[in-house]
Amino acid sequence: MIISPSILSANFANLEQDIKKVTDAGATWIHIDVMDGHFVPNITIGAPVVKDIRKITNAKLDVHLMIENPEKYVDDFINAGADIITFHQEAKVVSRSLINYIKSKNKMVGISIKPTTFVGSIAEFIPMVDMVLIMTVEPGFSGQEFMFDAAEKIKIVSDIAKKQNPNLIIQVDGGINEKTAKICKDFGANCLVAGNYIYKNENIKEAVQTLLNI
Ligand code: DX5
Ligand code: ZN
Repeated sequence: MIISPSILSANFANLEQDIKKVTDAGATWIHIDVMDGHFVPNITIGAPVVKDIRKITNAKLDVHLMIENPEKYVDDFINAGADIITFHQEAKVVSRSLINYIKSKNKMVGISIKPTTFVGSIAEFIPMVDMVLIMTVEPGFSGQEFMFDAAEKIKIVSDIAKKQNPNLIIQVDGGINEKTAKICKDFGANCLVAGNYIYKNENIKEAVQTLLNI
């Protein structure tokens, strides 16, 4: 299981230490939630922050773009040092072109769907991408409750991937804890994002280890 701790739940005044805490605990990815106040009702991190994070960690920087017009900003995040760029199907971009563009820059590319969006809307892209991100909360905020109905889509993606893209990373984001992580794994997920479960835990190391060994 790949664990990608979401720094949205970290202390932004102590970001370097908070990133070190999770990488020391065994996490090899860092999930960076980029929100623009339009695609979602919250504003968070931009490319300059990603650029500074790049200088202090070797972890894979997993950038989750919850923004309108991702095609306009993707170069900024690539140049800042992102390793994986995920954009939303609902951002109404020409997905095929954006996927090919990100791949042409030798970066990994992910496509994400919100809890109420059908897998059918991204099925044609599953063979092309490195990762599919299934949201199990409405994107916008950390600390929300896991939506079981949305998690059922993991199984649908996993079944398609078995035939069409066996190396696909199936990532799940929103409300992950030791119980919901198990549900996601059973449905076929191999990558979990976790914000509050890790950063609001008294023992961060144990939280990361628990998810790694789920
Ligand atoms: C929500 C973000 C998530 C969020 C996860 O819009 O995409 O990455 O930070 O936080 P938790 O794990 O607390 O639900
Ligand atoms: Zn996220």
